Amino acid sequence: MDNIRIGSGYDIHKFLEIALFENAAKKLYLGGVLIEGHIGVAAHSDGDVVLHSLTDALLGALSLPDIGALYPDNLKSTKGINSIEILKYAYKLVRDKGYGLVNADITIVTQTPKISAYKENMIKSVSSALDVDKSRINIKGKTKEGLDSVGKRKAIECFSVCLLSSE
Ligand code: CDP
Ligand code: ZN
Repeated sequence: MDNIRIGSGYDIHKFLEIALFENAAKKLYLGGVLIEGHIGVAAHSDGDVVLHSLTDALLGALSLPDIGALYPDNLKSTKGINSIEILKYAYKLVRDKGYGLVNADITIVTQTPKISAYKENMIKSVSSALDVDKSRINIKGKTKEGLDSVGKRKAIECFSVCLLSSE
């Protein structure tokens, strides 16, 4: 009866301050894609806001425990973990419950980088991690028009919506 389910996910990470030299070496990953030459974010994992918000959308659609419950940020064993691994695990839980992804629509809110330059690669990376057709994933960027912490380039955030079907 209940053959479609909707999910939403959100994530935000703080950009590192350039002055924190050691951490500034941390790289920025978005949708599993390395953004060359961009300052990274503070995170226990690789800090990929796109994959974290999408993971929570997938889990949320089936009322499964959220990303922080599955991957607590105080575990030594998951420090620096590749978020593709987290996404794949979440999607395995979805598949195990008999559901598959219809589509996901993802909005990254940030002043930099310009997402349009990377979106094709991100879509490739996400769809290949989930083993779904590229047409099922959409990714777009938006600025915060200079407002708030994201607008002041202190952080990057991401919203994801997904639809699952058991048919
Ligand atoms: O034009 P409007 O104020 O609605 O949006 P904007 O935040 O100024 O962004 C304009 C367009 O730039 C977006 O629709 C995206 O196509 C692109 N964009 C992007 O690729 N990456 C970002 N980080 C921000 C915007
Ligand atoms: Zn995150």
